[in-house]
Amino acid sequence: MRKKNNLKHQSDYSQTISELNKSFSLITDLVQLRNNFVTRIKEISNIESLEVFLLDPDYNRFKPIAEQDHSSQPNRDIYFNPNDKLIFWLKVNKVLLNILDDPAIFNFFTEREKDVLLKLDAEIVYPFVLMNQLKGFVLLGKKESGAYSQNELEILTILFEQASFAFENAMLYMQQRERSGKMYRADRLATLGELAAGAAHEIRNPLTSIRSTIQYLSNKIEDPEDRELALGLISEVDRINGIIQDMLSFSKPEDLKIEETDFKDIINQIMRLVESSAKSKKVEIVMNYLSVYETINIDNNLMKQALINILMNALQAIDAQEGQIQIEVRDIASENPQSDEDSMFLLEIRDNGKGIPKNLLEKIFDPFYTTKQEGTGLGLSITYSIIHRHGGEIKFQSEIEKGTLVKIKLPRKAIKQ
Ligand SMILES: Nc1ncnc2c1ncn2[C@@H]1O[C@H](COP(=O)(O)OP(=O)(O)OP(=O)(O)O)[C@@H](O)[C@H]1O
Ligand SMILES: [Mg+2]
Repeated sequence: MRKKNNLKHQSDYSQTISELNKSFSLITDLVQLRNNFVTRIKEISNIESLEVFLLDPDYNRFKPIAEQDHSSQPNRDIYFNPNDKLIFWLKVNKVLLNILDDPAIFNFFTEREKDVLLKLDAEIVYPFVLMNQLKGFVLLGKKESGAYSQNELEILTILFEQASFAFENAMLYMQQRERSGKMYRADRLATLGELAAGAAHEIRNPLTSIRSTIQYLSNKIEDPEDRELALGLISEVDRINGIIQDMLSFSKPEDLKIEETDFKDIINQIMRLVESSAKSKKVEIVMNYLSVYETINIDNNLMKQALINILMNALQAIDAQEGQIQIEVRDIASENPQSDEDSMFLLEIRDNGKGIPKNLLEKIFDPFYTTKQEGTGLGLSITYSIIHRHGGEIKFQSEIEKGTLVKIKLPRKAIKQ
């Protein structure tokens, strides 16, 4: 009979290992890779808890890969900073660490790290070191049935080493996709701008005469219903004008008017602007300002426009009874700080609306992509261009029926573009 706490029988685990190896070369999706890895390792060795931490460039932190791209992260205080003691130890030693081996090691960690390690019931940490850099680590919890055997650790070490390449590849693949998406978007926006600039003049002149003629004629119409119809046409003409105006913003964007601004104040202002729409939909908007910094250098009006587009989308996505939008601001320390100004703000806007299907996530920044009857589909392309002109980045994570998380990274000292 097999002992529960030990490795499975040789033939059992060689099959699992071969399946695991296959998955390393076949799966490029980080979350899927993580889930497959965790399940297989748990199969091989009877481990209750196992987390894969990778350096998340969005936060400059080592964070566990989540089980799914969920909009809400249940364990948000589970992370390590690049300057934490555990990270330091792994960078220096580059080998498996058994935390229970030596109490001095545990005492070496900061209180926050100890808290995290205790929460995860951690016993073993294996570093992912590639090209002499620490890319992440696996953290194994204690086993219910005793300690890890030497043999078990040796096999796990081999698997973890292979896994480190697979996780690095998946990460690179994800970054590559983001980069090519960015180039594609920049290209499309520039083309749209050129087209708009060419067409705007031709379209606007006849539009102006259409508008004034309707206005003139509407004064002569006596039947109130017919008059109403004519006035409806005027608002349609105004809508066309508005779209042209939006398209023109891609062609020759005005220079940014950068000012030192109270960031919390800006967010409060945009919250006030959508307040009445939120109330009528019974959607609660909460703000959590966690940054130690107050000011940011931005073009006030453009940034407000960018953020309102996101808030409006969030509101429009919510149908449910208990609609909620959470806004959170934190800061990320710069990797090579020359001054405090080099740090970034991370703004997260989370809704519990209907979500966006995975295959459509790539389309949302495309000009004219819309799923709404009354939408122009320009909102997010404008937002994208404003955030990027400030030297920032914007990303969406979403899950159907659960909600959407928008992550915006903005330098405190905007780069003029
Ligand atoms: N928070 C969100 N939840 C669900 N879907 C979203 C969310 N944000 C954006 N989308 C999807 O992305 C599409 C594009 O958004 P975008 O803001 O560019 O245009 P729009 O909202 O449709 O039109 P407009 O902004 O002109 O009113 C939306 O139609 C919607 O399908
Ligand atoms: Mg919109």
